[in-house]
Amino acid sequence: MAPSARPQSWRPESWRDHAAEQQPDWEDAGALETALKELRNLPPLVFAGEARALKAALGEAARGEAFVLQAGECAESFDNLSADAIRDALKIILQMSVVLTYAAGLPVIKVGRIAGQFAKPRSEALERLGDQELPSFRGHMVNGIDFDAEARRPDPQRLVRAYHQASSTLNLLRAFTKGGFADLTQVHMWNREFVAASPQGRRYEDIAAAIDRALRFMAACGIDLKSDVALHQVDFYTCHEALILGYEEALTRQDSLTGEFYDCSAHLLWAGERTRQAGGAHLEFLSGIHNPVACKVGPAATPAEVLALCDALDPDGEPGRLSLIARMGAGAVREALPPLVAAVRDAGRAVVWVCDPMHGNTFLSSNGLKTRRFEDIVEEIKGFFAVHEALGTFPGGVHLELTPDDVTECLGGVDAVLDGQLDVSYRTLCDPRLNGNQSLELAFEIGELLQAWVRR
Ligand code: PEP
Ligand code: CO
Repeated sequence: MAPSARPQSWRPESWRDHAAEQQPDWEDAGALETALKELRNLPPLVFAGEARALKAALGEAARGEAFVLQAGECAESFDNLSADAIRDALKIILQMSVVLTYAAGLPVIKVGRIAGQFAKPRSEALERLGDQELPSFRGHMVNGIDFDAEARRPDPQRLVRAYHQASSTLNLLRAFTKGGFADLTQVHMWNREFVAASPQGRRYEDIAAAIDRALRFMAACGIDLKSDVALHQVDFYTCHEALILGYEEALTRQDSLTGEFYDCSAHLLWAGERTRQAGGAHLEFLSGIHNPVACKVGPAATPAEVLALCDALDPDGEPGRLSLIARMGAGAVREALPPLVAAVRDAGRAVVWVCDPMHGNTFLSSNGLKTRRFEDIVEEIKGFFAVHEALGTFPGGVHLELTPDDVTECLGGVDAVLDGQLDVSYRTLCDPRLNGNQSLELAFEIGELLQAWVRR
């Protein structure tokens, strides 16, 4: 094996010698150290072998042989930890993945923004309301959302609580995905009541019925369906933005098999658009862990910057190691993305290109709520596919913010959520999410694009 081009000086704590954006002002250094020590002594949440399995799967996506569905909350909430919430979050992703697999005949790699997505970067460190100014809400891993001084004070014990919530969430996800719930014979059960009655819910039922028929056909041909694990279990991975580096460092462990370091807080970690500075602490941290990693890239990114990201995060050119998540905006994607994709292609880099059609399409509605238009989201994904089609590269996946619930946060879709209706059920802690209906509708849109791509 060729020697690794990674710097040998990396340690889980070496990010501390670099400038770290977006870190909370914890105030009490002793309380922070107590929390981090507690985390260092707790067991890992995921295992190195699982992170390696995801990297191998993403390697297939880098070769155009699988499609990534990365989806979930913008910001998970400490107040939403119930079996039903976890089951429903899984259901919508399983449903979407059935739609995509059925349309394209490609394996879908399922990666939830779940079990750790508790920290948010903010454009303003302070929020002003009337004549009071308080620290901005940075996610439940850091502080509370209520606008009062006590809630907004960063509390290091929240890091420990985030770990325990992630642990409970993962425990149930593992039970659901390996214990029968994700069995392909249960495909009808993943349709939720309020979605089932909608046009896309009925369209989903048609696919579910076709899968039933296919399974009966195979059984009738004498194929032993009972013993085939792939029909009864799914691989479901977790990811979050590696933002609060003390938390990520404390959960980084050396794998006993390989001696390599893995951040065992999730299978995949990414750097956000606000924390991907060259030479900054976030890239330094991600450069040394052996998990698959990702980085957001917005419309201002230059080809040179993106190639530098590849060098920093994937010096060994390992397929599946690096995903680049383009978040350009519907109006910019067709101009801003091609030079980046072309530069990466011409450098012979095997990255997975993923489309985040959410974060470049956010604006304020007439009543001041952050929202996104369903049609802009679809338009950005269409632009993303068109760019890859023109350059002969693979549109490797999508990165979505969604909830299984019947919320009114994004405009449009078949139930035509209108501007004046956003406050009917606007519940997000941070960015506007697609609701269950909109998510399934989007899966059908993406399925059509992917099918056209496969048949081209
Ligand atoms: C996010 O994914 O929630 C986010 C903050 O994205 P970005 O870094 O692309 O703005
Ligand atoms: Co977001």
